[in-house]
Amino acid sequence: MSAVELSGVHVIHKARGSGLFGRDRVYALTGADLTVAAGETVGVVGESGCGKSTLAKVLVGIQRPTAGTVTFHGRDLWSMPAAERRSTVGASTGLVFQDPSTALNRRLPVRRILRDPLDVHERGTRAGREDRVRELMGLVGLPRALAEALPGQLSGGQRQRVAIARALALDPDLVVADEPTSALDVSVRAQILNLLLDLRERLGLALVFVSHDIQTVRRMSDRVITMYLGRIVEETPAAETSGQARHPYTRALFSATPGLLNPVDPIPLTGPVPSATRPPSGCPFRTRCWRADDECALRMPDFTAASRPGHRYRCHHPVHPVEEDQPSRNLPREP
Ligand SMILES: Nc1ncnc2c1ncn2[C@@H]1O[C@H](COP(=O)(O)OP(=O)(O)OP(=O)(O)O)[C@@H](O)[C@H]1O
Ligand code: SF4
Ligand SMILES: [Mg+2]
Repeated sequence: MSAVELSGVHVIHKARGSGLFGRDRVYALTGADLTVAAGETVGVVGESGCGKSTLAKVLVGIQRPTAGTVTFHGRDLWSMPAAERRSTVGASTGLVFQDPSTALNRRLPVRRILRDPLDVHERGTRAGREDRVRELMGLVGLPRALAEALPGQLSGGQRQRVAIARALALDPDLVVADEPTSALDVSVRAQILNLLLDLRERLGLALVFVSHDIQTVRRMSDRVITMYLGRIVEETPAAETSGQARHPYTRALFSATPGLLNPVDPIPLTGPVPSATRPPSGCPFRTRCWRADDECALRMPDFTAASRPGHRYRCHHPVHPVEEDQPSRNLPREP
């Protein structure tokens, strides 16, 4: 059973600053196919501007695709009547943003912030909603005494706990966390990550986790999606070592931050990321790829299934997996 399914999803924005009649288009997401199964954790990695947040917003039903379908529980989200879509989205998904200080209404106390989704979706009785607010605060480890506090009176970590509690208010099946720790002090990042992992286990959530920190993504996830210039270019089971990635871009990303127990030679990524307004023909990575040839300029490769289940990539000339019998690369992974 899938929590959400994307099929052939494109998101094209009008370029910022291109004027009312400007023609420039930003190809934020191109041909995305992705299924997130119930209870599964999917990590999303890629450089700034590659479309991670766009994908996150499409997954939680707040960004309408320019083309393609978004299916929640077998039903096409964007062909539902607006009211039904709002209630479906509200009840099925929650989004946790990067910066909790801008994501929360600073004039409302914690109790009201958490009650708001319950009020909007008319969940239970008034007394039941107050009980639910207390339950949510307990779930994310916020002391009761903070119920009347305003966001400005909380620490960054506490604010992100409020944002997580709000995302959980309507008991969603899927939570999407878009760089949930990057605005936080290093000292509280691990606490928030552990909270997300704990909630995932306890509530059986599907979790989509977007981050620049590839090691964290791999530790948190069952599956890692690599994005480049609006495209999903590889899906790897997170438990695989860095050397198993087949797409040159994923290999370069993974090799830049190797785990201590499975070192790989770092592959430098050189040259600028092309503009999302004028993506290169064929494979978008070809302007930076050391394996590119004429074929890469002609055609974007389709997905190829790797030999291991759950692993697929889009590349004409994939890198070979690192041999399993190379001793320095075949040490046990961290549990
Ligand atoms: N509303 C918008 N109007 C125009 N362009 C947009 C809009 N939203 C996003 N973009 C562009 O779409 C592309 C993808 O943006 P997105 O925010 O999804 O990237 P990202 O991977 O989340 O980046 P980051 O790591 O910096 O958060 C970028 O080129 C961005 O500038
Ligand atoms: S398709 Fe070609 S350019 Fe693209 S990643 Fe593969 S080898 Fe490189
Ligand atoms: Mg983003």
